[in-house]
Amino acid sequence: MANSESGKPSPWLTPLHYLGRNWLTLAGTVLTTSSAITLVVFWAREMMHNKPVNPYAGMVLFLMLPGVFVVGLLLIPGGLLWDRFQLKKKGIHADLVPTPDFKSPIFLRAVGLIAVATFVNVMILGAASVQGVEYLDSAQFCGQTCHTVMNPEHTAYKDSPHSRVSCVECHIGPGASWFVQSKLSGVRQVFAVALNTYSRPIPSPVEQLRPARETCEQCHWPQKFHGDKFVVKQKYSEDEANTLLTTVLVLKVGGRSGVDYKGIHGRHLDVAAPISYVSTDGRRQVISKVFLSDGKGGKIEYDAQTKPDAKPAEGAKKEKEELRTMDCVDCHNRPTHKFWLPERAVDRAMTEGLISPKIPFAKKKAVEALKAAKGPQAQAAAQIATSLNDYYRKTYPDLVQKEKPLLDAAVKETQAIYARNIDDHMRITWGTHPENIGHEDFPGCFRCHDDNHKTSAGKVITQDCDKCHTILATEEANPKILKDLGIGG
Ligand code: HEC
Ligand code: HEC
Ligand code: HEC
Ligand code: HEC
Ligand code: HEC
Repeated sequence: MANSESGKPSPWLTPLHYLGRNWLTLAGTVLTTSSAITLVVFWAREMMHNKPVNPYAGMVLFLMLPGVFVVGLLLIPGGLLWDRFQLKKKGIHADLVPTPDFKSPIFLRAVGLIAVATFVNVMILGAASVQGVEYLDSAQFCGQTCHTVMNPEHTAYKDSPHSRVSCVECHIGPGASWFVQSKLSGVRQVFAVALNTYSRPIPSPVEQLRPARETCEQCHWPQKFHGDKFVVKQKYSEDEANTLLTTVLVLKVGGRSGVDYKGIHGRHLDVAAPISYVSTDGRRQVISKVFLSDGKGGKIEYDAQTKPDAKPAEGAKKEKEELRTMDCVDCHNRPTHKFWLPERAVDRAMTEGLISPKIPFAKKKAVEALKAAKGPQAQAAAQIATSLNDYYRKTYPDLVQKEKPLLDAAVKETQAIYARNIDDHMRITWGTHPENIGHEDFPGCFRCHDDNHKTSAGKVITQDCDKCHTILATEEANPKILKDLGIGG
């Protein structure tokens, strides 16, 4: 710092002598300079190797440092004014700023220095705010900074087809008004986390979610929707041999072809004849009325004939009626935060070979261990290891000797399934968040397509299997259709 006491400063730096005069200004100068240097060094490093930073470093770098930089900038003139005010009180008139005189070299130098400093500051602030906004929108900020709260959604997300789509692309979407709205509710959420008043689990459905057609259709537009989808589902039985059973379906996904709407998507996304419904359980699982618009201002109403007891599911806001027009998330409510049931998760792990089907009763024992495990991850992991290891040691001692690596891998994957799907702190357990696609594990499509919703004329919402899919094989050991197609086997 050039200071009048430090001998003879270079003439160009003489204006700096005004900065060193009082503590506030000096502190401001130090804060601004050091945060600016840190930011610039970090950007240089980032340009050389673009690795994601640790979430807490991100908070410091993208949000706090630019703040320190601005505070420092404000302290510099603030200190000068304060200093002048103090001296004035004492009746001293000091040359705290150079006299505005265009002939005075010191004044000209001061103007030059301020111009350069302002330019540099604007550049740094500009870069920092672009980066700050980018950071606020990153999956890392949404998913990891509020670590405990968003952990279940972030974990499921990393394991999904959307793991390269950022949270904000579905939760906020394009446009300034949704951005501002979400940042305001974000501030409320930060307080809820700080004060520990957030709900566990985070309530789902998300009431203020932006209409899905404005977000999902950025990437999946109706004209692009698929015709039929060939689906092969593999399940393992709970017998000693873990017999593999295969179901083969052709799903009539459909969409818009030309002016026509076809199949599942077609019927439900036809803008001329939208479908709406009333749900009563706060979770959109129990549906009392369905309306089908006829496109001419009229409506067909289907009423539930027998009312199931609509007790609100755990974690749901209190029981209340909600009228809603169907969009993507009424079927795809878990496009990226899919929580698996134990049977399905073990089937998947066995198909991928992570739990070996060679282990006798692998399916049955892994599912039992998962269902019995309780509590935080470390505790559950220990329970799972004990239960599986004890069982195999007692029942298949030979296997434990010969196939130890296979067993160890199975234990590890079973623990991982628990960690991905259960969050003790956030009170997420098996089935907390139902999946609305299909009808095997949760009501899903059969919330309406159940032959129980009828018009006054007695017309039902169809449960005809062939309207939604052609079933080519149901839980068969060696489906002929796959052999004929030359797949599997
Ligand atoms: C592909 C789109 C998509 C992406 C990407 C996405 N979400 Fe979601 N998210 C959804 C949908 C759809 C719902 C459920 C909406 C409903 O049923 O009302 C949801 C629900 C949630 C919920 C409410 C609780 C629950 O499980 O239903 C939280 C919390 C959440 N998301 C956080 C995140 C975070 C954090 C990220 C980024 C790491 C993220 N989301 C990325 C679509 C997405
Ligand atoms: C930023 C682009 C983007 C947005 C926004 C987006 N998706 Fe996707 N979606 C993708 C990509 C990329 C894939 C993966 C395609 C693949 O794996 O072939 C995908 C895959 C899917 C799949 C197929 C999943 C599977 O198991 O194969 C579904 C269903 C889906 N998205 C639904 C949605 C829904 C519902 C929303 C809105 C809540 C949404 N997407 C928002 C890009 C997006
Ligand atoms: C009536 C329920 C329903 C609605 C509403 C719906 N979908 Fe789907 N969608 C399905 C079903 C069922 C499938 C096939 C399921 C599967 O792949 O397992 C599917 C499949 C998809 C796929 C994957 C296609 C493929 O070939 O893998 C995408 C992407 C998708 N939907 C996006 C959307 C978007 C975007 C919207 C909203 C504009 C939407 N869907 C609305 C039921 C629905
Ligand atoms: C909120 C209620 C509701 C839900 C949930 C729902 N549907 Fe529908 N669906 C309807 C109504 C209403 C119709 C129109 C009935 C008609 O045309 O007679 C319909 C029509 C259809 C049709 C056309 C049937 C035909 O006769 O051509 C298909 C296919 C379909 N739905 C598939 C699905 C699938 C797949 C799901 C689950 C992923 C689903 N629906 C979930 C209400 C619903
Ligand atoms: C309203 C549409 C609809 C109707 C009606 C319907 N299904 Fe389905 N079904 C689906 C969807 C969607 C899936 C899910 C496919 C997926 O998970 O990818 C499915 C999946 C299945 C599966 C595979 C389950 C699994 O995951 O292993 C079977 C078996 C099945 N349906 C049988 C039937 C039978 C039998 C009927 C007639 C009584 C029927 N379905 C009626 C929409 C329907």
